[in-house]
Amino acid sequence: MKIKDKLILDIIDVNYMGRGVAKLDDFVIFVIGAVTGDKVEAEITEVKKKYCVAEVKKIINSSEYRVEAKCKNFEKCGGCALMNLKYDKQLEFKNNQVLNSFKKARVNIEDAKINEIIGMENPYRYRNKTAFAVRTDYKKSSNPVTIGTYGYRTHRLIDIDECLIQDEKVDILLRKIKKIIEDNKIESYDKRKKTGTIRHVVFRKNYLNEIMLIVVTSSEHFKGKEKFLADLSAIGEDVVTIIQNINTKVSSDILGRRNIVLFGKGTFIDKIFDKQFIVSPSTFLQVNHEQTEKLYDTAMRMADIKKTDTVLDLYCGSGTISLIAAKQSLKVLGIDIVRQSITDAKTNARINNTKNVRFVCGKVEEKLPLWVDAKIEADVILIDPPRVGCDIEAIKSMMIMKPKKIVYISCNPSTLTRDASSIIEAGYKISEIQTVDMFCHTSAVETVVLFEKR
Ligand SMILES: C[S@@+](CC[C@H](N)C(=O)[O-])C[C@H]1O[C@@H](n2cnc3c(N)ncnc32)[C@H](O)[C@@H]1O
Repeated sequence: MKIKDKLILDIIDVNYMGRGVAKLDDFVIFVIGAVTGDKVEAEITEVKKKYCVAEVKKIINSSEYRVEAKCKNFEKCGGCALMNLKYDKQLEFKNNQVLNSFKKARVNIEDAKINEIIGMENPYRYRNKTAFAVRTDYKKSSNPVTIGTYGYRTHRLIDIDECLIQDEKVDILLRKIKKIIEDNKIESYDKRKKTGTIRHVVFRKNYLNEIMLIVVTSSEHFKGKEKFLADLSAIGEDVVTIIQNINTKVSSDILGRRNIVLFGKGTFIDKIFDKQFIVSPSTFLQVNHEQTEKLYDTAMRMADIKKTDTVLDLYCGSGTISLIAAKQSLKVLGIDIVRQSITDAKTNARINNTKNVRFVCGKVEEKLPLWVDAKIEADVILIDPPRVGCDIEAIKSMMIMKPKKIVYISCNPSTLTRDASSIIEAGYKISEIQTVDMFCHTSAVETVVLFEKR
């Protein structure tokens, strides 16, 4: 097989990137733009040792699961890779992705209760945080300002003036900001030439639908700043605070360390169940509010915490799960690596008048062994690590603590199942698995797993 070869393919599945999967004599071909059940003519675009990538050229028979993607940027953007698949099929795909991952890792889930995935009634306009890159070119005769996202694994910035998974108010703001940048001739930052200023715009939304606008720049001062900021301050659309974030680094991180409050308080309050949480530009909060409550509710039900229980909340972020768990427990101890998150977690404990929580800043794999040495005991451990999963030292310490239950929240099935193997080997069984669709139309899936001591 070589590049530009044309093939007729039957699509038998979709992969974790939302690409159709076809097989020719057991050789796998990932087909961009195809969904399960399609018969397509596809052109090979990449040839690897174990697989090929192809692009759909013609749909010969359209799958019964195929729908017209509602987003006009669907083909270019790559963010919502599954939007052309019926929503219930997306859910089935995500659940299978998790179950297959357990199978591949040879983790026994035969005795586990496996629930149906929790989807959304309306899987659009759900994100409470979005970030867009800015690029300007005033030599162009029209549309000199591009604000948007990069195409999947490309450096091509796609102009976005509407994104169906964010609030409609943010769409309006995007268009207004674009005009303000253009009117004031603000130059975007060029990493290579080290010229220009504006890098990103970030939007956050809280439970009251108030908006925080963060304008990321490469330096504090820049030409035209006063008028630019005055125009931004008059932007409306329920923007309650505007922050200039300074990011001087040449890296893919969106936010830098320094924030200058330009308008409003620089923070706002969000609410999950009856708990209030302070949100600053860098605060980690789950991005889908409605599904977060279902996710946390599932974790709490599985944890079944008793009033006498000491609970650990590892990778606690700004203490959301800790504060929800604190109501039912004797005490909750949280660890997170990000100092600002721990500062926020302490503030959150104070504003919610919760006294039985303690938060420590550091790496779980370094702090937990110290707690083991200090003979701190845990009845229930809640873990919600980043995509890389848990460090083996963290798992070893958890195993020494021998909690009766571990509730593991994961955004990455492959690291979840890797860690599950170690936990099971140390004497636990998986009792329940619940997948939750937090990132509708994308191929990402969230899973909650209950481990119980055998
Ligand atoms: C998926 S988030 C979960 C946050 C929180 N549980 C929530 O639901 O909002 C993962 C968290 O792990 C933290 N983190 C990443 N690596 C870590 C490590 N080695 N030790 C401690 N925390 C870490 C991140 O700062 C982030 O807050």
